[in-house]
Amino acid sequence: MSSLCGIAGVALKSGEVGPIIYECLKRLEYRGYDSVGEAAVIDDKIIVKKGKGKIDEVEESLGISKLPAMVGIGHTRWATHGAPSAENAHPHTDCKASVAVVHNGIIENFLQLKQELESAGHVFKSRTDTEVIAHLVEDYLKNGDGFVEATRRAVKRLVGAYALAIISTTDPEKIICVRKESPLVLGTSDTGNYCASDIPAFLPRTNQIIILEEGEMAILTADNILIMKAEDGEEVHRKPFPVNWTVETAVKTGYPHFMLKEIHEQPSSLRNVLRTHPIYMDLMALTINRAKKIFLIACGTSHHACLAATYLFANLAKISVTPVVASEFIDNYGALIDSETVVLAVSQSGETADTLSAVRGARDRGATILGISNAVASTLTRLSDVYIGQNAGPEMGVAATKTFTAQVAILTKIVLALARKRQVMLKAELDALDQSTNRLPDWISEALLRDQEVKRIAEKYGEEASFCYLGRGINVATALEGRLKLLELSYLPAIAYPAGESKHGFISVVEDDYPVVFVAPRDETHSKIIGNVMEMKARGAKIISIVEEDDDEISKFSDDVITLPSGIPPSLSPAVYIVPLQLLAYYIAVGKGYDPDFPRNLAKSVTVQ
Ligand code: AGP
Repeated sequence: MSSLCGIAGVALKSGEVGPIIYECLKRLEYRGYDSVGEAAVIDDKIIVKKGKGKIDEVEESLGISKLPAMVGIGHTRWATHGAPSAENAHPHTDCKASVAVVHNGIIENFLQLKQELESAGHVFKSRTDTEVIAHLVEDYLKNGDGFVEATRRAVKRLVGAYALAIISTTDPEKIICVRKESPLVLGTSDTGNYCASDIPAFLPRTNQIIILEEGEMAILTADNILIMKAEDGEEVHRKPFPVNWTVETAVKTGYPHFMLKEIHEQPSSLRNVLRTHPIYMDLMALTINRAKKIFLIACGTSHHACLAATYLFANLAKISVTPVVASEFIDNYGALIDSETVVLAVSQSGETADTLSAVRGARDRGATILGISNAVASTLTRLSDVYIGQNAGPEMGVAATKTFTAQVAILTKIVLALARKRQVMLKAELDALDQSTNRLPDWISEALLRDQEVKRIAEKYGEEASFCYLGRGINVATALEGRLKLLELSYLPAIAYPAGESKHGFISVVEDDYPVVFVAPRDETHSKIIGNVMEMKARGAKIISIVEEDDDEISKFSDDVITLPSGIPPSLSPAVYIVPLQLLAYYIAVGKGYDPDFPRNLAKSVTVQ
């Protein structure tokens, strides 16, 4: 269930939908909050009210909830294509404002459809992928199809993920909903029917729920819900079922905390990330390939993603980059920065003051700025010459989880594009690795199956006063990130080291039963890390190892083992091997009675230097 944007639709038997849609959007605000809008058919015209900003702000300025109609749709946005603006806010309409659409997801072939529609005379008002849908439906309506058939034909032209709610002046009592990958649920009651991205939206009005399944379409009117297969129009019968959740539980879709929900959301958030158009990776690769000096700057978890990427740039693209924590960048490297320097800044919030100040310092010295952020409207994206949105959807938990795996995946794709440009890898090898990145969501799903095993280990070591995380090669970054998760959530003074370096200091700390966590996939460092495991074991440490299934060489020295699927290319291992470490930190914190969503002294975005 990827969370990018929230959509809602309401068809009432009486009364006005405006305020009800507004309420639904308020309860979906955790899915996106950079622009919002509502639409309804009033006097045979589609009235759209939308604007940039948070729901309350836009309501205050535009009164979006004032829609005297009984059928309407609404949207709260988390921008992916087209920065937050009134034009790019949803709902989107066609040329004649006879169709209005709200959408959650990503239309991968929108550029091609847009060109086709523009050459047929359609005029576009936004830079979004979504608007093509309204014009496609318009086209089929023009060819004489009814609203339902026009929508069904239009949807067949789309490639990507989408949850849609559509209204039209040609059939004002209907809301047509369509679902492919992105979540969409329906609600039925005596007073009307509802559709939304998530159950909390309309839960206070009805707990009678119908899940719209993959590839299905529903036609909602005030007193009926008709479901059919979008492919061929075949009718589907499905009974509603009651959901006994509070709204708060529903927002977390049944998980006790946002963090655990977001950890389990990684397979689908990564599928969204991997849908990012390769054109952006190529542009980044081209810019990096021209540079004389390349720095990767970030803070916290984003810095760990940069550390993993440094390994990839060197080993796959054969290019040297320098990862630097942002708060140290200008002081240490300011003198080296010039017009031949490229700075790749990574920040999920895009608002971290240390990262922004480093970027401004670099820009003032003539550097080209590349940005990777999970918030496409953020300051970092505005300071960047080229930027890529992570598309992982809003992350509510202060501890970064799904945004880390998203960053690693995007950085990997940039490196592969660069290696392709520099022709430093065999095409077959490159293609294979590219294919493997698309398998990351499945490998992470398998890692998530270890949830309860990790919980057991967390309970076993929950009272320990300290932990150490060791890794080698690319997984030094994974060890550092695992340690950061535990440290920031359980407030334990955890340590992390490149395993080889542990002999030069840390090992003096090791005593009987001291817990040492090893991140040890079967890669080029495997034989060396076995030695490190034995060194720690020899000094009485408790060994918790994250290894490949059937890795007896390390398991036999370990007290607790978490096994992960074999066949994961070493260069992709951090995005999978981090998952058990995210869960370990989560369960130890919860075991200590701490709230993992809002750890003390921390903020989701550190906007002070
Ligand atoms: C990670 O869990 C923390 N929330 C923190 O270290 C964070 O990664 C850091 O503040 C950087 O944030 P950014 O990615 O939004 O710039």
